[in-house]
Amino acid sequence: MAAQNYLSFRDLAPARTVELVADALAAKRKGRDGGLPLRGRSLALLFLKPSTRTRVSFEAGMAQLGGASVVLTPDATQLARGESVADTARAIGSMCDAVAIRASEHGILEDFAAHSPAPVINALTVLEHPCQVLADVMTFIELRGDIAGRKVAWIGDCNNVCRSWMLAAGAFGFTLAISCPPAYRDEDVGDYATLPGVAWEDEPAAAAADAACIVTDVWHSMGDDEQSKERRLRDFAPYAVTAELMAKARPDAVFMHCLPAHRGEEVAAEVIDGEQSVVWTEAENRMHAQKALLLELMGASR
Ligand code: CP
Ligand code: NVA
Repeated sequence: MAAQNYLSFRDLAPARTVELVADALAAKRKGRDGGLPLRGRSLALLFLKPSTRTRVSFEAGMAQLGGASVVLTPDATQLARGESVADTARAIGSMCDAVAIRASEHGILEDFAAHSPAPVINALTVLEHPCQVLADVMTFIELRGDIAGRKVAWIGDCNNVCRSWMLAAGAFGFTLAISCPPAYRDEDVGDYATLPGVAWEDEPAAAAADAACIVTDVWHSMGDDEQSKERRLRDFAPYAVTAELMAKARPDAVFMHCLPAHRGEEVAAEVIDGEQSVVWTEAENRMHAQKALLLELMGASR
């Protein structure tokens, strides 16, 4: 049987994704007395781009479950000397029980998954960041209850994190109102644009109106053309999440950002460091959500 990969939020059935987030919340509440269900198992982590949270959350999560992690940076592997992704995948996947990969190109993960006997997890590509959004939805439910029927506003760049949010809207039954400069919407979202639950608003204030959660991310992601940076900062300036914009949302709305953040660009310091911000819970929940995912993919859940 082919390995169950997690390259996209689409790779788990919506009902299973909802259960997985509930499992993660239950395990977080229970604390660390869940035994060591992944004792003897190992996770390879292949980071072709920088990371703080993703790497630490996977390593710490594996340790808490009793397993081990093998962290690989590109220079430390034979990929740097031209070994193919396919041969690398056959070798690593024969020894490890799952492989989490961060790369610019989504195709590298598809190539790896096509040749790896072990499941492959998307630790961020330019297309999606599904592990992030598992943690984000978990954070909303933990702090504000059911997300079904609620309105979430995405303000800013329609990037990898946004695309995973678009898929989450259908799985969890909420509305994702997106406000992004139209030129970037056409450039970046492709067939995700018409997913169930996704709505488009020209004005950030219209997207934010009565939202239970406002989310944003950097305006220039890893892998975006360096030369486009200045243009992007100019084009996205009206899409900053300010206190004024937060005031359009529900009074109990939360502010989310996957981090790292640029204060004074996509978000005002008073918002990300203010009372409505839940970014540190979001960061911690990366570990809890991924523990549930690892149990699922390694066949040790429930
Ligand atoms: N949010 C996130 O993926 O952070 P890192 O880039 O630090 O892993
Ligand atoms: N959109 C950002 C997310 C970083 C975690 C990037 O891809 O750089």
